[in-house]
Formats: sequence, structure tokens, C-alpha cells
Amino acid sequence: MTSYAKAHTNIALIKYWGKKDPQLMLPMNNSISLTLDAFYTETWVSFQKELTSDRFILNETVQDTKQSKKVVKFLNEARAISKTKLFAEVKSINHVPTAAGLASSASGMAALAGATSLALGLPLDDISLSRLARHGSGSATRSIYGGFSEWQKGSDDATSYAVPLKEDLSDWDLAMIFILINDQPKKISSTAGMAHTVETSIFYPGWLKAIDGDLKDVRQAISEKNFTLLGETAERNALRMHATMLGANPPFTYLAPGTLTALDIVQKLREQGILGYCTMDAGPNVKVLVEKANVKTFLDALSVTFPKENLVVAFPGRGIELKEK
Ligand code: ADP
Ligand code: DP6
Repeated sequence: MTSYAKAHTNIALIKYWGKKDPQLMLPMNNSISLTLDAFYTETWVSFQKELTSDRFILNETVQDTKQSKKVVKFLNEARAISKTKLFAEVKSINHVPTAAGLASSASGMAALAGATSLALGLPLDDISLSRLARHGSGSATRSIYGGFSEWQKGSDDATSYAVPLKEDLSDWDLAMIFILINDQPKKISSTAGMAHTVETSIFYPGWLKAIDGDLKDVRQAISEKNFTLLGETAERNALRMHATMLGANPPFTYLAPGTLTALDIVQKLREQGILGYCTMDAGPNVKVLVEKANVKTFLDALSVTFPKENLVVAFPGRGIELKEK
């Protein structure tokens, strides 16, 4: 029997950047994200008696030991919980560029957690799925839900998981424009980048000091549907995260010249009263949070500089779907 799961990517408006406990995958701070419809992962998992090791096939290509490391680590955790010794075949299709700062780890690991739980008969409630997804990738905790969700950092394995904040966004016309500046895999993974930042950045204490205020503002913005407060807080939070990397030793950045060009275009539109706010993850690509009514204006302005095919419009997406196949 093969189990199937489909999960969408999510983009954090308040970022997860740093682990308190890398073994248990406990984060330093809570994070808040929006799940989007445009990018997703589909994963099929089957545990088989005949297998002598795990097999990970991504986008129809068999992955080598290094490429399969995170998946095998995740499967080891799942085997320990369900007390099975069987190895698994994992087939996955990313409808999102892999490792390019577009959150493939979030949709990928959420889908893996869902399909694995179904295959092994593990609990399928949202909190259990979110906790298990955390063992694959922190950001995956939030891809269990549609709309806005918050990963509560917790203090141990049982208490660190995401919860929905506002899953139904039918009453709020939000959109996110992805500006694809570079969709090639990055040189420094999120995992490595955040570990280096926590260890060496003189700005990291400042990041942690500001986080409670940012979380409070975004929670308030969501409950009041206050777009300006949401966007201003998200953009500030993303820029602060990127500042921590400039304060690391040696310093590094995921931002590229095109990133700054995009920020500049969005800022100029804001000066004309057309509101949009940027956020960037572990990669140069920019995501612009806008209201649906302004999507065309933004696309027109951005397409003067960026090729139209590199601009992808996304809307709030749904939570995880599971099926036996
Ligand atoms: P991204 O910015 O795309 O999230 P990361 O460096 O954070 O990049 O994570 C990329 C890693 O996530 C990949 O190297 C792989 O280990 C894992 N990953 C991506 N897609 C999948 C998938 N479909 N199934 C399982 N793991 C995946
Ligand atoms: C910048 O979840 O990919 O996208 O937990 O080590 O797998 P691991 O990292 P990952 O990091 C995401 C970092 C981020 C911010 C965010 O999504 O909150």
C-alpha cells in the first residue's frame, strides 16, 4: 500500500531563524506564516519488506546518500516512534524549485510527514502531523495548515508545534507575488546558515530581543485584518533576519543585486500610496505581500525590470491532504 500526501509551501512573515535544540529541532523563537497555493509538493511513501535501505526519488531522479540525508534522518525518527524496522521508498515531486529559498523544505517535509504517518498508522491529527514534520524541517510544522499559522516554539518535543491562526481567508483578499531572481539551489542551506548565525552573529541577540514585539504586531494585524500593520511588520522582520547574517563571522548574505532592485521598486510604489511589502528567505527571491486589487499594478511595475515568466502570483493555500492509493 502506498500513502500519498500533498502539502503547500508557506512563507514566514515572522521568521524562524535559529535552533535552541538542533537535535529535537526546537526553535529559538515562534514564527508566523502564510500557506500559499502556487507551490506544493506531492509525496508517495511505502514501507516494503524487500528493501535493504531507504530510497528517495525526487522529481523522478534517484537521490544519492548526501541528497537523501534529511529524508533518511526523518524516516529514522518515524521508525523509532512506530517501532518498525522496515525501510521505505519515498517518491516526491516538488512543484516548487528545490533549495532555492522558496520553501521546498516546508512543503517537502510536511508532505513526507503526512504520507509517512498514514503509511505507518501514526496519529493523523494536525498537531501530531506538525510535531512529526518538525523533525524533518522546522518550517514544515506550519505547512500542515492553510492560511495563517504560528509555530509555537514550546520547550520540548511534545510542546513544539504549529497551530492555525486564521485558516479561512475568504474574507481577506491577500496575494503574494514571487519574484524569481534565482531558482538554483543555494550554496548555504537554511540549516547551516541559521546555525552559523546563532553561533557567531553579534546581531543575533538583537534579533531575539525584537521578536516578541513583531509577533504581537502580526497577531494583532491578522485578527484585525490590518494589511499595513501586517506588511510593515513582516518586511521589518525579514530585513532584521538578513541583518543577522551580515553580523556573522565570517559574514554572509543570501541577498543578490536583483533582491535590492525589487525592494526599491516596491518602496517606490509605496511612496505613491500603492501598498506592498517584501519578505525574503534563505535565498535572493523576493515575495511581495499585496492586496488582490493591486496585483496587476505590481505586475506591470515589476515586469519593466523582471521577465514576466519570473513573476508568480500566489493566493492563500489549503492545508495538507492525505490519501491511501
Ligand atoms: P528551501 O529554501 O527550498 O526550503 P532548504 O535548504 O531549506 O531550501 O531545504 C532544501 C532541502 O529540503 C533539500 O535539500 C531536501 O533535503 C529537503 N527537501 C526538499 N524537497 C523535498 C521533498 N520533496 N521531500 C523531502 N525533502 C525535501
Ligand atoms: C528563512 O525550515 O528550511 O525560511 O529546520 O533546518 O530544516 P530547518 O530549516 P528550514 O528554515 C526556514 C528558514 C526561513 C524562515 C522560515 O521559514 O521561517
